[in-house]
Amino acid sequence: MTTVTDTLLELKGVGKRFGGLAALSDVSLHIRRGEIYGLIGPNGAGKTTLFNVVTGLYQLDEGSFTFAGQAYARCKPNVLAEAGIARTFQNIRLFANMTALENVMVGRHVRTRSGIWGALSRNAATRAEERAIVQRARELLSYVGIDRPHQTLAKHLSYGEQRRLEIARALATEPQLLALDEPAAGMNATETESLKGLMQTIRASGVTVLLIEHDVKLIMGLCDRVAVLDYGQKIAEGIPDEVRTDPAVIAAYLGGGEE
Ligand SMILES: Nc1ncnc2c1ncn2[C@@H]1O[C@H](COP(=O)(O)OP(=O)(O)O)[C@@H](O)[C@H]1O
Ligand SMILES: [Mg+2]
Repeated sequence: MTTVTDTLLELKGVGKRFGGLAALSDVSLHIRRGEIYGLIGPNGAGKTTLFNVVTGLYQLDEGSFTFAGQAYARCKPNVLAEAGIARTFQNIRLFANMTALENVMVGRHVRTRSGIWGALSRNAATRAEERAIVQRARELLSYVGIDRPHQTLAKHLSYGEQRRLEIARALATEPQLLALDEPAAGMNATETESLKGLMQTIRASGVTVLLIEHDVKLIMGLCDRVAVLDYGQKIAEGIPDEVRTDPAVIAAYLGGGEE
């Protein structure tokens, strides 16, 4: 009984093809509420494709998934955002010429009645809601550790700050599940350490974290459970210690000539 209610996201036999290429084949996995779940695997293994499927950017070809007890197969990004899935992108996707504050406010509008266009037009009916959004956006910026003036354009933030700004924008949608696609990529050791702390804080706040990461040390030190994809298939899953010593995992990494 508890296993049913504990599951936040469950994939059942998910397949996704691009022409003749099976980017995902029969992938089944479940992510429990409150955990940090790691997704690793060589380049091209299908990790980002899995994110794209559960956030509605790609439509799956086979299987289905459930999120918070609701079944989905083919549906749009806004439906899954409203359901409580938020994500960041492997390549930073901020509005470069908008301020940090505005970038977070855009995320917030998933949860508001007037939506982004009402807010941009600034009509009287939306003003009170707008004040609350600004307040919340400021809180989120400070939460992720961006203490520079909120007037700063996104493109003028440091690389590590831009990555954290993306996380703030995702959190502004009040997700149940936060999916992070290689958030530590390109970060130095100090930035990575502070990101690790942020992910732990986010999890402690009750948000479940799904993490794609190349930094195996970071994954192993942070995740409750880890799944390994290779050529679109799940080849291992378990607690970090089990996965690290799994012969199929070692072969996948050595065979790919990576890490
Ligand atoms: N939109 C797309 N069109 C064609 N092929 C794609 C597309 N997206 C991903 N792929 C292919 O699917 C495979 C998995 O890619 P991806 O999910 O990005 O891997 P990973 O994130 O694990 O590095 C790769 O071979 C990639 O080239
Ligand atoms: Mg990827």
